[in-house]
Amino acid sequence: MDIISYIKKVPKAELHLHIEGTFEPELMFEIAQRNEVKIPYNSVEEVKKAYQFNCLQDFLDIYYAGASVLLYEQDFYDLTMAYFKHCAEENVVHTEIMFDPQTHTKRGVSFETVISGIKRAQDDAEKNFGITSYLIMSYLRHLSEEDAFETLEQSLSYKHLIKAVGLDSSEKGNPPSKFQKVFAASVKEGYKIVAHAGEEGPAEYVWEALDLLKIDRIDHGNNSLTDEKLVNYLVENKMALTVCPLSNTALRVVDDLKQHPIKKMLDLGIKATVNSDDPAYFGGYITQNYTEIIEALNLSLEEVKTLVSNSFEYSFLDEETKKKYL
Ligand code: HPA
Ligand code: ZN
Repeated sequence: MDIISYIKKVPKAELHLHIEGTFEPELMFEIAQRNEVKIPYNSVEEVKKAYQFNCLQDFLDIYYAGASVLLYEQDFYDLTMAYFKHCAEENVVHTEIMFDPQTHTKRGVSFETVISGIKRAQDDAEKNFGITSYLIMSYLRHLSEEDAFETLEQSLSYKHLIKAVGLDSSEKGNPPSKFQKVFAASVKEGYKIVAHAGEEGPAEYVWEALDLLKIDRIDHGNNSLTDEKLVNYLVENKMALTVCPLSNTALRVVDDLKQHPIKKMLDLGIKATVNSDDPAYFGGYITQNYTEIIEALNLSLEEVKTLVSNSFEYSFLDEETKKKYL
């Protein structure tokens, strides 16, 4: 079997996916209309034209504006179910979904509304498609640590629905050290820990995420490669990176897929995985990420098998369930 057919068919796990980043323009228009919320675009084409980014912040401004049409439980259900339909089509059998409660609670939408809609879609996806999923609650790093503490507090009634906490949004100027206390409190509550680090920020932020936040997995982590000691640490400690190729080119973290560092990461012995991050904004879901990176870097079948097995090995699934896929 050729590599592209293999990657389409093989069961995969996705470990870095923002549910708000799966908001396709068509659904955005539909929900905006039924909720009578104005958006600054007249057509789907106009929305797509706006998706030209020079950096992470360019994208985040548009991403938060898009999410502002989400008001009701049904909206969060529809958003999440649309993503699960892509998973079903692409043989994603397990996914660990990030959601940003503060993006919604800041607008007066309750934590309960957000998580109830997502949870109902998770249950339906498991029942109808056999897809398992976990939730990762991400703190917005451009907001204060106090704000994150409030979010942690709000999450506690739904602790049984949340597997991990994460850290996303504007990285530069908002280092992991800003959130050391709230991550320590999150660990105490039993949450697993991830954080975006080394996407636009320096290797130093990856060290902080490891040393101060006690992360179990790194989101992105590209800039780790600038620090040899850090690379050695990641390899020795089997610290996985959730890499997002099409996100990296869309946000100009990497100039060209041909220069993408994922092959180098594998060569160095880093546990890399392939993920879509915000597929509605960055040009494709997980299979598209795999196929484009396979073609750009001429990855071998063996390398692709490693990436797929890493996606299960470094998931938060229990060891028994992992065995089914490894
Ligand atoms: N980086 C940081 N924050 C985000 C991203 C990302 O790629 N996607 C959604 N929020
Ligand atoms: Zn991300």
